[in-house]
Amino acid sequence: MNSRTELRVLLDRKEIETAVRRLASEISQDYRNKNPLLLGILRGSFVFLADLIRHLDFPLEIDFIGLSSYGSSTQTSGKIKVMKKLETPVRDRHVLVVEDIVDTGLTTAFLLAYLHRRKPASMKLCALTNKPSRRKVPVDIDYIGFTVPNKFLVGYGLDANQKFRNLPDICYLEDKA
Ligand code: IMP
Ligand code: MG
Repeated sequence: MNSRTELRVLLDRKEIETAVRRLASEISQDYRNKNPLLLGILRGSFVFLADLIRHLDFPLEIDFIGLSSYGSSTQTSGKIKVMKKLETPVRDRHVLVVEDIVDTGLTTAFLLAYLHRRKPASMKLCALTNKPSRRKVPVDIDYIGFTVPNKFLVGYGLDANQKFRNLPDICYLEDKA
């Protein structure tokens, strides 16, 4: 962000909370009694996952995997690297991947293939935001919070060069008029 750009709110904290509650209710219907493993993709999903699980009132487990597709710019490199390994064995587990945003789809497609090889009992994807306009590979998203326009989003866990993850609203950077 420089002096010619400003932050504008796309989704405020109230709208996000409403969506998180709706997703939690859908997930509860499908996962109660399954002791699912909720798998957050670091780092962007940590805020969403933290809010989501507090609306789930049944036994579940949490783990994280660190994946990175972005360098220091807002353009994807297309290459996915495992930056932090998963610690929980996923074999025969009901795994729900929790992601902040599906953009090109490369990260989630990589992860779903990676998990598939480890033979989970089932595998689904929950994304707080979906940016279908930039998709490069098809991805089935089972639970979607919002479909968002082709803007670079920050806040509620999402970053630009590691900044803005702490904003309570989801915002975008816009050139000043
Ligand atoms: P994909 O592999 O292109 O689908 O991108 C997935 C990852 O890129 C997400 O987990 C985010 O970390 C990051 N990303 C994609 N779009 C945005 C954005 O608008 N703001 C911040 N991060 C993004
Ligand atoms: Mg991410």
